[in-house]
Amino acid sequence: SQRESVAIDGWVASGKTTVAKQLAAELRFLYLDTGAMYRAVAYLALRNGVDLDNEAALLAMLAHHTIAIVPEPEATAGYRVLIDRFDTAERLFDPDVAAAVSTVAALPGVRRELVARQRAIAEQGPVVMAGRDIGTVVLPDARHKFFLTASIDERARRRQAEFHERGLDVAFDEVRAQIAERDRLDSTRAVSPLRAADDAITIDSTEMEPGQVVALMRNAMERAR
Ligand code: C5P
Repeated sequence: SQRESVAIDGWVASGKTTVAKQLAAELRFLYLDTGAMYRAVAYLALRNGVDLDNEAALLAMLAHHTIAIVPEPEATAGYRVLIDRFDTAERLFDPDVAAAVSTVAALPGVRRELVARQRAIAEQGPVVMAGRDIGTVVLPDARHKFFLTASIDERARRRQAEFHERGLDVAFDEVRAQIAERDRLDSTRAVSPLRAADDAITIDSTEMEPGQVVALMRNAMERAR
């Protein structure tokens, strides 16, 4: 069902996951936020004191823990992340995890492991999958591919508001700098750098509500049938 699936890639805080979750609900497809998987690896590394660039140690660590992404429409993110059966979803969006994640995500062995798990999920049925390399690497045969962008200021505003809702007050300039740095790391790494697939439709969501982006995607999908 790779072909029936929808790949959504894009920059940090471009609205990927909000839109992917809503689109999946409307289409009754599975929904997978692959960023949560990379965040779970970073979180485990921080918790276990494993060096963020020690690939062998990270893979050994992964062999000792289970990471389960459990769909849960009522949860804010639309899923729960269970690490060894404990719900860690909230913790994954803390700034320390965000600062660590691009380092572990640059390691080829870590990516190989997570991509295999992501493809296995897509085998279970049509899925709306959000990430950085979904259209290019994970589901290259997906019929529908979208690439989301928005201005850096708008993305920083969105992310700052999300932090604020969770009781974390981070200065705008700091949020903006963190986003820019993660974009830089994700788009310049050697393995599966963030880029739009050649056959992806790019959508600039700077001045759009999530619902408008979803409607635009559904229109494009209708037209491609
Ligand atoms: O989407 P989110 O911001 O939660 O992703 C966190 C990080 O995980 C990204 O900055 C990137 O380093 C990594 N990632 C990735 N490939 C994906 C999804 C996320 O490298 N498919």
